[in-house]
Parts: sequence; C-alpha cells; structure tokens
Amino acid sequence: MRGRTDVILGAQWGDEGKGRVIDVLAAKSGVVVRYQGGANAGHTVVVENEKYVFHLLPSGILYPEKTCVIGNGVVLDPETLFNELDELGKKGKKLAKLIISNGAHIVMPYHKLIDKLAEASRSEGQKIGTTGRGIGPCYSDKFERVGIRAEDLVNPDTLREKLTLNVKLKNELLTKIYNSEPLNFDEIYDKAIEWGKRIKSMLGNSFAEIDDALQSGRNILFEGAQGTLLDVDHGTYPFVTSSSPCSGGACTGSGISPNRIDRVIGVTKAYCTRVGEGPFPTEDNGPLGDMLRNKGGEFGATTGRPRRCGWNDLVAVNYAVKINGINGIALTKLDVLSCFDKIDICTAYDIDGRTEHLFPSSCADLAKARPVFETLPGWKQDISKCRNFEDLPKEAQDYVHFIEERTQTPVVLIGVGPGREDTILCGI
Ligand code: IMP
Repeated sequence: MRGRTDVILGAQWGDEGKGRVIDVLAAKSGVVVRYQGGANAGHTVVVENEKYVFHLLPSGILYPEKTCVIGNGVVLDPETLFNELDELGKKGKKLAKLIISNGAHIVMPYHKLIDKLAEASRSEGQKIGTTGRGIGPCYSDKFERVGIRAEDLVNPDTLREKLTLNVKLKNELLTKIYNSEPLNFDEIYDKAIEWGKRIKSMLGNSFAEIDDALQSGRNILFEGAQGTLLDVDHGTYPFVTSSSPCSGGACTGSGISPNRIDRVIGVTKAYCTRVGEGPFPTEDNGPLGDMLRNKGGEFGATTGRPRRCGWNDLVAVNYAVKINGINGIALTKLDVLSCFDKIDICTAYDIDGRTEHLFPSSCADLAKARPVFETLPGWKQDISKCRNFEDLPKEAQDYVHFIEERTQTPVVLIGVGPGREDTILCGI
C-alpha cells in the first residue's frame, strides 16, 4: 500500500506556526519535504524546552530515522544550510538523512546584495519589506533561465560558464544602476566550489526519493514556507514573496502529482500577523496589537522585526481554504487569547460601503477593506495544560467551533503552548 501524503501550509501571511505542526506530524511520517522558499523562512520547533529555528532545514530534521528533502522549488543558501547543520552538530544532535534536489537553485552572494540594494532603492509605498535573503533575485534568475542549480556546484566547468555569464550581467546592474562595486569572479567561484565539496554527498534526485518512499508505504509531509497570502500568484501582489507557498507549489516544487496529495492542512494562528509591507485589514496599531505581539512573542524568527498584529480574519482564511483545498485546519497559539475578556473575529469586509465575504483579487481593494467583526466571549483561564478538546473551557471550544462553521472545515490540531507536547490532536 502506498504511503499517505499531507501538505502543511500557511493559511495567512506566514509565521502561523507551521514548524511546530510539522514537527508533531513528522512523528507519523517517513519523509519531510520543503518545496519552496528559502532562508527567508523561520520555522520554530521547541523540543524538550530547547528552541530551534530552522530557516532551510525541513522541520523533520530532528528525527534521525526520517528522511528530509529540500525540493527543486527551494532556493538554497549554502551558507545558511551549513550553519544550521553545524549548530545541530555542535549540540550532538542525531539528524534525519538529508537529500537536496539537484535542481534546487542556489542563492549566490550577489542575490542577497541585489535584494538589499533593490529594496533600498524603492520609494516609500513601494517597499516590500523583504527579508534580504536574496529570494526574489534568485527566483528571477531561475525564471530568466540563467540560475545556478545545486548540481552545478559539483561541476566546475558548468559552474565557471554559468558564473561568468551571471557576473557579467550582475556587474552591469551593480555598477550602472546601483552605483555599486563590481563583483569579484574568483572569490565567488572559489566559494561555490567549496560549497560543492560539502554539498556533494547530499545531492540527489529528490523526485525519485519521494516516489520510492511513497511506493514503499512511507508517509510524506510537504512543508510549506511563508503563507497563502504571500504567494506570488494568489497573494497580495506585489507585497508577496517570489515563490508558491500554496498547495500547487508542493507539486511544482517537489514533483508530486496533484492526484497523489491526500490531505492539505492549513495552519492559522488564533489571531493574525504580518511582517513586511502590504495591506492587512485586521491590523491593530493600538494596545490590542501590542498585547498580541507581547503575549504571542510576535517578533520575526528570521529578521527579529516586530510583527504587525490583529484579530483573526476568516475572509482571508476562507480564501486560503479554497485556493489550497484545505481539508483540515491546524489552529495555533490559542493560549495567547486566554487573557482577553472578549475576542473579535473578522467575518466580512466593508469595501466602499459594500459588505464583501470574498477576499478581493486586487491589492488596492484589499487596502480599502475595513474588517466587519463578530464578537465572542473570552475564557480568561490558562489552557496550556489542556491535552483533549473536552479539557478546553466552553468559550474556547465555542471559538474553535465558530471557525469550523464559518470555514466549513474541521479543526484537526490546536496549539496551546510552544512545546511539542502542548498540542490537542482532534482528528489528525
Ligand atoms: P522575501 O521573501 O524576503 O522576498 O520577502 C517578501 C515578503 O514576504 C516580505 O513582506 C517578507 O516579510 C515576507 N516573508 C518572507 N518570508 C516570510 C516568512 O517566513 N514569514 C513571514 N513573512 C515572510
């Protein structure tokens, strides 16, 4: 019998707590696959009171008997990868087997430089608030068909040829547009050759690995980074990342075919956050936003930036449910809401006096959207020790049921604290 496949992805603007959901579900899986994004992600996992933040490594890496795959859709920064592996090595951790797709694109030093220069050159209102990890420029090269792939790092002749072209193109851009210093070819080439020596044993045919695992009955988790509303096609363009965090991205970014995906789990916080620029209808710039940020520790895992915070937005979650085919919701950080007397939840938008239940396809319309809230009573008690749905206070159960009813989707996991064990499994 072939294995089961689950896609775990963000149903908001990223930072939903996917890492901890994946870490919990990885226990039942043989293989964990990252399919898009790069070191812009920051997936936090807490195991035995120790906190780990993974930017590139799949969140299943702490299970030695598993296989972790970095798929072709990922843009891989070797420096971050090696740092993460070294940190875990220093802690004496036994790790999963790691396979890196030959086709993953490499984030080169010039991608990070151009990312920062491009962001700095954008005027107010046009800034995207990127993480500066070179993500956009690396994906641009991929689609321009000049990118350097992981397999090129172990093929010095191809690397030299491709890098020669890239350094020439980038130097034009750097010196003529950004008034910056030209790149030094030898420095970059030597560095890339060193990366190749270390990465060589990890390279492989990730599609074949995934296919074999499925045929031999192993379950597979596909780990999305960022979130639906940051998707380059379906998100709040241009305030998005440059990849496809949606479930379709799992197919293109790993080679799994759509009809082999058994379940899509959308992760949503019990409230909502966003980092970087772009519209965010339920954002609260007052004491409520501050309280959510402080109680929820809402500071970027990758950049340390304070996250923008507000109540949950079911218009956006419903959109994510439809775009991705989400058939189970993982609701994280429910414990953060324990301090509130009442909890608001956005169920519609007011746009120019019209009540809209559909997430607008235009970013300009979204920027005009005012949230229409419904209010539920809070529970005002510690829920962090609850391990069964029935242990939750009635008001917390009602909040969960409200989300289920309004999204027509079951909540299958509830996070009540940061640790692996602080989880209520309800149908997963
Ligand atoms: P980039 O992915 O670095 O190009 O950034 C583009 C936008 O996506 C910015 O608004 C970032 O703040 C946002 N972003 C990128 N990665 C993440 C993430 O992992 N969580 C939340 N937001 C992210």
